[in-house]
Amino acid sequence: MKDFVCEPLGNHHDRTQFDCGVLVLNDYLAKYAKQDVKRKASAVFVLVDRSDPKRIIGFYTLCATSVALSELPEEVTKKLPRYPEIPAILVGRLARDVNHPGVGELLLSDAIARCVRVASEIAASLIVVDSKGEAAARFYAKFGFISLPKLADRMFLPMQTAESL
Ligand SMILES: CC(C)(COP(=O)(O)OP(=O)(O)OC[C@H]1O[C@@H](n2cnc3c(N)ncnc32)[C@H](O)[C@@H]1OP(=O)(O)O)[C@@H](O)C(=O)NCCC(=O)NCCS
Repeated sequence: MKDFVCEPLGNHHDRTQFDCGVLVLNDYLAKYAKQDVKRKASAVFVLVDRSDPKRIIGFYTLCATSVALSELPEEVTKKLPRYPEIPAILVGRLARDVNHPGVGELLLSDAIARCVRVASEIAASLIVVDSKGEAAARFYAKFGFISLPKLADRMFLPMQTAESL
């Protein structure tokens, strides 16, 4: 039986075998993810099966960001403070291995839950994703993410909505 866990990327994880079908994301994990972690550019979390703890099944990255108030739709800004920049957490990359279809939901749920936990200590009003491509946008929309009309490929979820999920 699968016993999945999401954990911070470590030295023991094999970053070279992961294949999500998108070369730029495979390359990121293999070549740049460790550096990003070291330089505090992104935190990287990987999904593994406890029975095969080196093998990466999926991953996502988190970092701090902000969204200009003017980029957000009015129905959302009504509920936000009138600061020019709204604090947010960016899920910059999220992908699962082609041999494990169906774990995308698990990855995104873990990312959202982590954002909610972090935001209780360092406030962030939004979770933002980079939804590269239409398929990814449809995937995120299923979880309630809303497109930012002025920023191509960016979508957001209010933290208050995330808390209620
Ligand atoms: C996007 C991605 C993570 C989705 O993973 P997945 O394992 O296929 O997702 P799941 O099967 O857990 O799907 C969760 C839900 O989203 C839906 N979904 C998944 N991909 C979808 C798509 N392309 N269009 C519409 N809905 C989609 C599923 O049908 C499911 O809904 P359901 O529970 O109502 O059936 C995966 O396709 C992937 O890694 N793609 C390559 C990398 C990428 O494009 N990442 C996103 C941008 S960085």
